[in-house]
Amino acid sequence: MTKQKKILFGLTGSIACYKACTVISALIKANYEVQVVATDSALKFVGEATLEGLTGKPVISNSFLRGHMMDHIRLAREADLFVIAPLTSHHIGALAHGLADDFISTLVLAYEPHKPIIVAPAMNVVMWQAPIVQQNIAALRQRNFKILWPNEGVLACGEEGVGKMQEPEQILAAINASLTEAPTATSPSPELSRPTQANTKVLVTFGGTRELIDGVRSLANTSTGHTGALICDALVAKGFDVVGLHSQDAELPKTAGAASRLQLLPFTTAQDLDQTLRETLVAHKFNAVIHLAAISDFAVDHLETKGEKYQPSENLKLSSTEPLTIVLKPAKKILHSIKEYAHNPMLPVIAFKLTKSKDQEANLQAAQKLFLKNQASTPMVDFVVHNDETEIDRTRGEHPFRLLSADGRGESLSSTTDLALKLTEIIRDLPKLSNSTDLNKGPL
Ligand SMILES: Cc1cc2nc3c(=O)[nH]c(=O)nc-3n(C[C@H](O)[C@H](O)[C@H](O)COP(=O)(O)O)c2cc1C
Repeated sequence: MTKQKKILFGLTGSIACYKACTVISALIKANYEVQVVATDSALKFVGEATLEGLTGKPVISNSFLRGHMMDHIRLAREADLFVIAPLTSHHIGALAHGLADDFISTLVLAYEPHKPIIVAPAMNVVMWQAPIVQQNIAALRQRNFKILWPNEGVLACGEEGVGKMQEPEQILAAINASLTEAPTATSPSPELSRPTQANTKVLVTFGGTRELIDGVRSLANTSTGHTGALICDALVAKGFDVVGLHSQDAELPKTAGAASRLQLLPFTTAQDLDQTLRETLVAHKFNAVIHLAAISDFAVDHLETKGEKYQPSENLKLSSTEPLTIVLKPAKKILHSIKEYAHNPMLPVIAFKLTKSKDQEANLQAAQKLFLKNQASTPMVDFVVHNDETEIDRTRGEHPFRLLSADGRGESLSSTTDLALKLTEIIRDLPKLSNSTDLNKGPL
């Protein structure tokens, strides 16, 4: 007779606790021994009577129960699997930082790291997309937590997006897979074992930055985000995991409403983009970056009107009847920092150069300037996609590109669709190098 497997089942405070009851019930029916541990918040969503009724065992939520003071060690040693579903943003942070101020977090620290642990985050879409939550998730992934990526749909709060806890049958499938596979610390997590290119993660920046003048006015550029949206769609269609940093008003990828493989984070100003880019490159391991956001070369330094100086501010509305002087300052060149932010001089970066001149030689030189070497003597970018405004006819859908590589090769592409497809091919061939060497390792 095979030994009954022991599952520690943690619940934290989310509406999705009701779905966890279905999972627990199915585990009991499948003859697993289940010990439920819950936070105080979780017990506001489902009652102890339900959980004890389902498992036949008292729920543990208190670390300091007389006669059970060492349960956090005993239960951790006895368990074959630890599942936390739902996992709140609060506990994602606590676990990522090794906090142990309640029973669940103490139990996680006491649980041997070679044993499997599965977590199913659940929360509002904006909470899920918060860079700090993503950084904490990245930290858990690095410690071999199996993260059941939240689904996309209408959330309990009424908003739509990624954040729904996976459905009971998905969680059960992950539990069964984990308990039947060899318990190695390096076995791939369910969300990583997707087919095709899912282990390849690409960061795409697109749309144009907007620099604040006052509460109703800004400096913008003509970028629509169209090319970036198509590139994201092409990558998702080929099975890549994509994080898209996009301007607030950019055209969004068509897959945005349907693909859990695509995560979108908005930005407004160049400074905003710089910060989001830095945080995202620290939080995730990317196989490539496609940087086509059109960044303002200047930000507003200060404003002068009626002999007074002002700083640009949301709270200001300048008079339209007085002459106004806007003093600009050069903006930071974000492109120069991508490999540095990723702590990986070998991270493949594809940059874009838009020119507006019929002088093809000068255009080529302007594009090739981007291959400039950085302090580590590696090129700041590995490919440059050049396009020229004078050759684009948007009404007829004509948009030629020239793809240049750091080793001097060039290829012409006649449309945005062709370009998007070509980029998926380039990235498909890159992971062999960047996955195997795993150089894009942030400090986490
Ligand atoms: C109705 C309601 C629903 C909530 N749903 C979630 C949720 O799905 N995910 C989440 O991270 N926090 C959610 N919260 C907030 C958490 O319950 C709160 O941060 C709590 O302190 C988390 O405690 P715990 O992580 O110790 O269980 C919700 C709060 C309320 C009142």
